[in-house]
Amino acid sequence: MPAYAFFQKKFVTMPEAKVGVMTHALHYGTALFEGIRGNWNADKGEMYLFRLKEHYQRLHNGAKLLKISLDYSVDEMINLTVELVRKNGLKEDTYVRPLAYKSTEQMGVRLHNLDDDFLMFAIPWGRYLDTDSCKCGVSSWRRPADNSIPPQVKATGIYINNALAKTEAIENGYDEAIMLAPDGHVSEGSGENIFLVIDGKLHTPATYNNILVGITRDTVIQLAKNELGIETVERSIDRVELYMAQECFLTGTAAHLTAVGEVDRRKVGNGGIGPITKKLQALYTDIIKGKNPKYLGYCTPVYSA
Ligand SMILES: Cc1ncc(COP(=O)(O)O)c(C=O)c1O
Repeated sequence: MPAYAFFQKKFVTMPEAKVGVMTHALHYGTALFEGIRGNWNADKGEMYLFRLKEHYQRLHNGAKLLKISLDYSVDEMINLTVELVRKNGLKEDTYVRPLAYKSTEQMGVRLHNLDDDFLMFAIPWGRYLDTDSCKCGVSSWRRPADNSIPPQVKATGIYINNALAKTEAIENGYDEAIMLAPDGHVSEGSGENIFLVIDGKLHTPATYNNILVGITRDTVIQLAKNELGIETVERSIDRVELYMAQECFLTGTAAHLTAVGEVDRRKVGNGGIGPITKKLQALYTDIIKGKNPKYLGYCTPVYSA
C-alpha cells in the first residue's frame, strides 16, 4: 500500500484519504478518471511517467462535459503527479489514478450546483492482461452511443458498460471482451483500443465507432508510421474482419500492447504474436521506459526532475 495520496488539495496519508457515504460521485458515477503509467527503468534507476500532458488534457476536456471545475492546470497536475510518485518512493512499474469527482455529500441526480474535488493515488502495478497472446470474445454488450454517454470521455459511470463486458468475457473463458458499437461495427476492448493487421497495414476503429480515443493508440499509430513506415487506416471495421485479419492486438495504458491470439475461439493468424505486433511491442516497451532518445519528450522523469 503506498503511503500518500493527493486529496482535498493536499498530500495526506492513505488512511486519511476517505470520502463520505453521501458523496455524489459514489452514487451517480459523476467522476472522471485517468490511468497513467510510471515505467521503471532499472538501468537508469529512474521512473518515467508516460505522456502526462495528453492524459491531463483529456481530463480537462472531459471536465467540460461533466461540468467539473478543475482547480489545477495541466502543468500543475503534471507537477503534482511527479511529486506524488516521488513522495511514495515507488521504484517498480506503477499506475497513477487521478480522479476528478463531484464531491458534495448530497442526493439528487444532476451535474450543476455541486462541488468538485481532484484526487490522485499511485500503486505498484505490473501486467494488466496477464498473457502474451490473449483470447477475446465478442461481447453481447455494446458500447454506448455518443448521445447516450459519450465514450470519448473517461467518466466513471460509463464503466458499468465495460465491467459488464469484461465479466461476461471472463465467465465465458476469455481474457478480454471485444465490444461492438451500437451499429454492430467493432469498437474496442473493455479497457483497450483494438488494431488489426491486414495486408501490411494497420486498421483500427475510428473516433465515430464509439471508442475512447486512446493515448496508447495514438503512440502506436505514430510508431508504425515513423519507425516502420506502416500506415494506419481509421475506419469502421466489420466483426468478420476480426477472424480474417493476419494479426490483431490491443493497446491501452494498463495493457500496453498485447497480442490477440484468438477471437471467438477462432485463431487470429497462427494464434501467437504476429511479426508486426512484435516489432511495435518492442518499440513501445523501449519508449515508455525512456530508452529511445527520440521519444524522451513523452517521458517525465520522477527522481531526476
Ligand atoms: C474503454 C477504453 N478504451 C481504450 C483505452 C485505452 O486508452 P489509453 O491508451 O489512453 O489508456 C482505455 C484505457 O484507458 C479504456 O478504458
